[in-house]
Amino acid sequence: MKRNWLGLVGPGALALCFATSLAHAAERSVAQRVEQLMGQMTLEEKVGQLNQLSGKEFTGPATDKVRSMEAEIRGGGVGSMLNIKGVADTRRLQALALQSRLKIPLLFGLDVIHGYQTVFPVPLGESASWDLEAIEESARIAAREASASGIHWTFAPMVDVGRDPRWGRVMEGAGEDSYLGARIAAARVRGFQGARLGGVESVMATAKHFAAYGAAIAGRDYNAVDMSGQLLHETYLPPFKAALDAGAATFMNAFNTLNGIPATGHAGLQRDILKGAWGFKGFVVSDWGSVREMVVHGYAGDLADAAAKALTAGSDMDMESNAYASSLAAQVRAGKVALAQVDDAVRRVLTKKFELGLFDDPYRFSDAAREKAALGDPRHRQAARTIAGKSIVLLKNEGGALPLRRGLRSIAVLGPLADARRDLEGGWIVKSNAASMASLVDAVRAAAGPATKVRYAPGCDVACRDTGGFEAALQAARGADAVVLALGESWDMSGEAKSRADIGLPGRQGELFEALRAIGKTPVVVLMAGRPLIFEHVAEHAPAIVYAWFPGSEGGHAMADVLFGDVNPSAKLPMTFPRTMGQLPIGYQQYETGRPVRDEKNIVYKSAYIDAPNTPRYAFGHGLSYTSFAYRNLQVSQPTMGAGDKITLSFTLANTGQRAGAEVVQLYLRDPVASVVRPLKELKGFQRVSLQPGEERTVRFTIDRETLSFFDRRLAWTAEPGRFELMVGAASNDIRLAQAIDLAP
Ligand code: NOJ
Repeated sequence: MKRNWLGLVGPGALALCFATSLAHAAERSVAQRVEQLMGQMTLEEKVGQLNQLSGKEFTGPATDKVRSMEAEIRGGGVGSMLNIKGVADTRRLQALALQSRLKIPLLFGLDVIHGYQTVFPVPLGESASWDLEAIEESARIAAREASASGIHWTFAPMVDVGRDPRWGRVMEGAGEDSYLGARIAAARVRGFQGARLGGVESVMATAKHFAAYGAAIAGRDYNAVDMSGQLLHETYLPPFKAALDAGAATFMNAFNTLNGIPATGHAGLQRDILKGAWGFKGFVVSDWGSVREMVVHGYAGDLADAAAKALTAGSDMDMESNAYASSLAAQVRAGKVALAQVDDAVRRVLTKKFELGLFDDPYRFSDAAREKAALGDPRHRQAARTIAGKSIVLLKNEGGALPLRRGLRSIAVLGPLADARRDLEGGWIVKSNAASMASLVDAVRAAAGPATKVRYAPGCDVACRDTGGFEAALQAARGADAVVLALGESWDMSGEAKSRADIGLPGRQGELFEALRAIGKTPVVVLMAGRPLIFEHVAEHAPAIVYAWFPGSEGGHAMADVLFGDVNPSAKLPMTFPRTMGQLPIGYQQYETGRPVRDEKNIVYKSAYIDAPNTPRYAFGHGLSYTSFAYRNLQVSQPTMGAGDKITLSFTLANTGQRAGAEVVQLYLRDPVASVVRPLKELKGFQRVSLQPGEERTVRFTIDRETLSFFDRRLAWTAEPGRFELMVGAASNDIRLAQAIDLAP
């Protein structure tokens, strides 16, 4: 790599240097403008900037509530609105804010979670692609569409590690692993925010929910969280830190208590870690009503007390609690809240408004022509199809059941989700495209071509309480050359407040599979869901299983692409799939007990269940392809790592099958003896490698001190000298090559 005289790479170095000094100048001038403005603000106007209201009502008739909100905006009492979208509505409300004394523009925030107009796979599904570029692109497209519709700020990405599939919100995250979650968090932030804030196609990202929300006890949403500092720092915080390092403009705190303190009122999290140790310069928004909920938790005596505690703990903006607006000014005057802390919060919010360019043109994001062009851009749907194809996991494929051959006389596409459209989009969407979408049946019809007769029968609806429709489904299957059965959840069975105590297939869906098996028509099964489900019978008996999650606007076609082999599946599970509810919570990152099971047949006084194995049904990182890959010739550049050294680990990956395909190779680490017991495996790297049949490539990973480090007993990030095991494989339970290295003292 050539470096120029500045030590920078490439011809853009000078330009980069110039750009950096411009950026510093811009930062200085933003800071000056903020101070100038704050010098003119009353305490009430400052508090107004910290008040966020939901604008759902504005789309309805002008009620008293709407009139009073309008007056509040005109009076400078509102800093931000959520749930307002579209050029017309955002312009209308911005105009009201511009009637306020200081004409401070509003920020418009919205949950743009996996697309705005174009719906991408739900985040958990998209994470199964392990494709950081594709993930960044989907966030970029969402930002492009949303920003053209007047949105400045998305409440995404959700970066909560989720290890309990009963928790409905695992659908919104990147799964169970902290390392994978951190890489994906950064990709999503980059996608939403683009090269810099202030571009009209960028929206501010929000790293949420700070922190540990994903560890709600028993997977019940909003439940308390109790965890060690070790687990918090090692597993739950790194994706937040990665989002921050990628430039996340805002953070959202969380509904849960953490070791007895509501996250919203948690100074240790927000002031000490986030704004202190990590140096976060953006602002923190509360979750919806979470300031008020501190009263319900039993942490604040009343709304005023909650406002004081939240602001003091570092929650800058109050989403929909009306706690700051109703009492913060009085709390400051009573000496219960320091004015300097209110100023700090206001400064943070105003800085972002300046950086977005809203003081220069408050309407710059609300552009009708851009909105029309962005929302109708056909390239976005194409991208949605590509990434959906990369997100669909081939869990099982025996006897070449898949891909389906073309030229069959007839295919039966059955099951409650076979003709679904809205369900394919999943939860947390802004707009439904159902009318313009292809269901699985439509897509199979299109892909199979006119010579193949495609029959459809649902068998039952998703709830599947009665079996009255089974006979029609069996009838459709009887003469068919191939049978595809689409089972799973409806879109509203996962997401916020959608925890399930039983994550099996809903109702009697499993019986439909059995009924088909009984007539000798065992189907290929396509599963759709926002979380890992349990489907033991299907897992045992179906010849092939495809896990499609909720694959988005182009999900129908993407599923057909995989079924017919037009797309060779390459996705890998970002969460472990249990065999039974009793194994929960389960993940690959287990610690060795003093009595491990070495042999499933001998579990006497071992760390085991007497009625189920310890192993999951499908392990983290699992996912098959229509081709096969060989791993060989693992080498390390040196066996011992000295201070400041980096070791290169390399191996050969070969496509040994008949089709082009991509393999996500995974690097795991174990530190076998340490001052704090380390997990049996920790993901430390991955790469997606595309290979033609017969092609092989050398894959390299760099191992440095960072790779070997962990949080020690004092929660200091450290690498301890000694032996480390490096493992490379196709899944956490499919290690193909291993090699030990030593870290020198
Ligand atoms: C509550 C959810 O927890 C959060 O993720 C979301 O951004 C807000 N509501 C706003 O809709």
